Amino acid sequence: MSGTAVLPEGDSAPRPAAVEFSGVTKIYNEGTSRQSIAIENVSFVIPDLADTGEISTFLGPSGCGKSTVLRLVAGLEPQHPPTSGTVRVLGRRVSGPGADRGMVFQDYTSFDNRTVLDNVTFGLECRGVSRRSREAEGREWIARVGLDPRRDAGKYPHELSGGMRQRVAIARTLVLRPRIILMDEPFGALDPATRLDMQDLLIKLWRDVEATVLFITHSVEEAVYLGDRVFVMATTPGRIAAEIRLPTASAPARQTQSEPWFHQRVSELQEQLERIEAAAQRPGGRG
Ligand SMILES: Nc1ncnc2c1ncn2[C@@H]1O[C@H](COP(=O)(O)OP(=O)(O)OP(=O)(O)O)[C@@H](O)[C@H]1O
Ligand SMILES: [Mg+2]
Repeated sequence: MSGTAVLPEGDSAPRPAAVEFSGVTKIYNEGTSRQSIAIENVSFVIPDLADTGEISTFLGPSGCGKSTVLRLVAGLEPQHPPTSGTVRVLGRRVSGPGADRGMVFQDYTSFDNRTVLDNVTFGLECRGVSRRSREAEGREWIARVGLDPRRDAGKYPHELSGGMRQRVAIARTLVLRPRIILMDEPFGALDPATRLDMQDLLIKLWRDVEATVLFITHSVEEAVYLGDRVFVMATTPGRIAAEIRLPTASAPARQTQSEPWFHQRVSELQEQLERIEAAAQRPGGRG
């Protein structure tokens, strides 16, 4: 099966999609008494937009397969490989983790025994970058995520707030310049004000790095604010129930999220989610 190509205006060569799922099913513990279908026949295309990239958000109830989808893109076991169907990234079938993809999780996944700077530069160290260049780049990224290279670079993760630790996690991923950034509820554990600050930070960095972002959240507000595209998922089996296009975030989170059109969009989406769930819970029903 060939990857779906997107033809940008004025460009003669078709670009392969950033991420493409074609009929992807994942069954955990297949053939055992614990067998469960996590996602079934999931297909979607996220185009690789030249010079911008897109943010796709994934919304849906617990257990609908959001993390399964993201980890299949990352090529991480045991989600990878899919039971059937194909997962492609930038036109190539995913065969495992790769430098073109970077992941940020909800849990603060920094190394406790490494300083902020050593955490941020860890991936560069693994790539064999010299100490001098990796520390220069690390300090630059510490500043770009809103931390102070002089004050914070030598701190250990336990000396940081949750928001600061997620800034470190973002710096650690982006310093490696992945084309695809995978974020699994990265702001889920933060207080509401910090969360809005982090949304602004993500939009700012995303404009700089021009990457494609796949972002999982349980917050409808966050999905609508960040998403150029929202995938609404449903359970039993996990699947994509709707794909919605939205305007790109153009104003700060606090401003946009206080506007009437934004509240309208959020309540429409909330109602849609409730309808999808009610349909999934009816015997034999689908959203
Ligand atoms: N490693 C695993 N082994 C067996 N079953 C799994 C595994 N990981 C996930 N599942 C099951 O697959 C389904 C989808 O899980 P997944 O973690 O993808 O959901 P999710 O949408 O990310 O949920 P949440 O919002 O709670 O994070 C669930 O029924 C879950 O129990
Ligand atoms: Mg999850």
